[in-house]
Amino acid sequence: MIASGPAAPATSVSVRGLTKSFGHVTAVRGIDLEVRAGEIFGFLGPNGSGKTTTIRMLTGALRPTSGSVEVLGTDVVRHPDRIRCRIGYMSQRFSLFEDLTVDENLRFYGGVYGLDAATFAERREYILRMAGLTDRVGELARNLSVGWRQRLALGTASIHRPELLFLDEPTSGVDPVARRRFWDLLTDLSEGGVTLFVTTHYMEEAINCTRLAFMNRGRVIADGSPREIRDSLAEPGGPAPSLEEAFVALTTRTGRR
Ligand SMILES: Nc1ncnc2c1ncn2[C@@H]1O[C@H](COP(=O)(O)OP(=O)(O)OP(=O)(O)O)[C@@H](O)[C@H]1O
Ligand SMILES: [Mg+2]
Repeated sequence: MIASGPAAPATSVSVRGLTKSFGHVTAVRGIDLEVRAGEIFGFLGPNGSGKTTTIRMLTGALRPTSGSVEVLGTDVVRHPDRIRCRIGYMSQRFSLFEDLTVDENLRFYGGVYGLDAATFAERREYILRMAGLTDRVGELARNLSVGWRQRLALGTASIHRPELLFLDEPTSGVDPVARRRFWDLLTDLSEGGVTLFVTTHYMEEAINCTRLAFMNRGRVIADGSPREIRDSLAEPGGPAPSLEEAFVALTTRTGRR
């Protein structure tokens, strides 16, 4: 018998030639992406480079102009409904109902995902504890500070225990201490087996990712581990640049016409 090595991790996201045009604007230009199960995949790039548009296509919210999208083994273009209960999405602009309380937001999302009463009660307790919101269940979402809001939004996006969680700039506007706390929660989710697909403009967060892809003007211009990307941009014999320097070098090198 031939001994086989450990099985390669399953592929969570597989994208080929993905393109999206809005009239004359082509936001995403034929990108290929591969995310393996268990990764913390960082999706980086300057404003307007096509990150949110890509995530919207991966979650089935937006139909591509062309190309293929497979998420958790499902063709999302043909069957967007089949993945909805298996993924979570913390969007860049909307995650919470401002005029609902913490508790009402949780109940709304528990209802959307059809959790039974016992499961909901258990998840609600867990989220309130992890978000530090146990004493604030009756507070309106709009009155929470940004750090609390984002932790609650993480809770609502993952209330149904998705296999794959998309997070679009989840820590934007969050202070450094709260950002660190948020990333501790992401690490917990990752250790619990959830695959994370996250965008951020903070390079000190990107360094926590197992793999990165850099977008610029709708194209993937580099991918690899943070170390690989830094090393690929080192001068011969010189030290590897920081991730921030790498980001600037990559986007200015290919960003100018
Ligand atoms: N619905 C739309 N209609 C027209 N243009 C759009 C639409 N959505 C996005 N775009 C354009 O597509 C491009 C990519 O936008 P996208 O929001 O994907 O970028 P991003 O990388 O997420 O940026 P940011 O870092 O600012 O969030 C931009 O030029 C944007 O104006
Ligand atoms: Mg965006």
